[in-house]
Amino acid sequence: MDVGFIGVGTITEAVVTGLCEAEVPGVSILLSPRSVDRSRRLSERYAAVQVAADNQQVLDRSELVFLAVRPQDAADVLGALRFRRDLKVVSFIATISSGEIERQVGPAAFLGRVAPVPPVARRSGPIAMCSPNRELAGFLDPLGTVIEVSDEAQLDAFFSVSALMAPYFELLESVSAWLRAQGVDPVEADAYTGALFRGIAQKSTQPKGEGFADLVEEHATRAGINEQLRRELIAAGLYDRIQAGLDLIQSRMQGRATLDDTLDLE
Ligand SMILES: NC(=O)c1ccc[n+]([C@@H]2O[C@H](COP(=O)([O-])OP(=O)(O)OC[C@H]3O[C@@H](n4cnc5c(N)ncnc54)[C@H](OP(=O)(O)O)[C@@H]3O)[C@@H](O)[C@H]2O)c1
Repeated sequence: MDVGFIGVGTITEAVVTGLCEAEVPGVSILLSPRSVDRSRRLSERYAAVQVAADNQQVLDRSELVFLAVRPQDAADVLGALRFRRDLKVVSFIATISSGEIERQVGPAAFLGRVAPVPPVARRSGPIAMCSPNRELAGFLDPLGTVIEVSDEAQLDAFFSVSALMAPYFELLESVSAWLRAQGVDPVEADAYTGALFRGIAQKSTQPKGEGFADLVEEHATRAGINEQLRRELIAAGLYDRIQAGLDLIQSRMQGRATLDDTLDLE
C-alpha cells in the first residue's frame, strides 16, 4: 500500500519508525518535504521511505494519507490541497473534530481520527481510533495496542489521558532529583528510578476490565511505607488534581477551554 504523511514531526517519525521496524510487507511511505532533516533521516534509514516534492504529490501518489500537522496549521495546509475521491484520509490532529476534517478533505474518504503516542516507534503503547475500521486497525496493529471506539467523545478522552506523558516524566525527574539530593550518584539515581517505574509498569499490561485497585493493594503492605505514602498523597489531593487536570484537558480538546485556562488551586 502507498501511504503518505502530511507533516513530519514527532508523531509521524514515531509512526513511520514503528511501521518500518515492523517490516510490514508491501508498504511504501511518502513524506511531505518541509521537515527536511527528519524526512531525510527517515528516508536514509528505511528503503520504504521517500520524500515528496510537495504536499500535493503526497496526496497524488498515496492511497492512504495521515494528516499530522499542528492544529493551528491545519486549515492553511489542507485548504491548499486537492483531495481526490478515491483517497483515504486519517487525521492524527488532536483538537480538530472529525466533522471539521471531513469537510476540509472532501471528496476524499475520511476514515477517522487516530491518537498514536511516541512509544509506537518501539511498537508499544496505545493507539486509539474513531470510528472503528477493521482495515485501518489491522494496518496500525503492528504499532501497539489498537483501541477502536465509535463515540468521538471517548477518543477525546483517550487523547486527554495521553497528556500524562510529560507529567509522568516530571514525576521521574522529581524522584531522581530527590535521590540526588540524598547524595546518590546521578547515574545510579536515574538507573534506580527508571528500573523501578519500568518494573512496576509491566504489571499493568494485562487488562481485565477491573481497574487497578488489585495492584494498589498488592503493592501496599499493611502499615508499610507504600500504604503511608499513598494515604498522604490522597489526603493532599494529588489524585483529585489529576482527575481535574484531565477534565481541563478534555475541555480543551473539545474547544471549551484554551491553553490559558488553569486548574483552580484555591
Ligand atoms: N506528539 C504526539 O505525541 C502526538 C500524538 C497524537 C497526535 N498528535 C497530533 O499530531 C499532530 C502533529 O504533532 P507533532 O507532535 O508531530 O507536531 P510537530 O512535531 O510540531 O510536527 C508538525 C510538523 O508539521 C510540519 N508542518 C508545518 N506546516 C507544514 C506544511 N505546510 N506542510 C507540511 N508540513 C508542515 C512542521 O514543520 P516545521 O517544524 O517546519 O514547522 C512539523 O514538522 C498534531 O496535530 C498533534 O495534535 C501528536
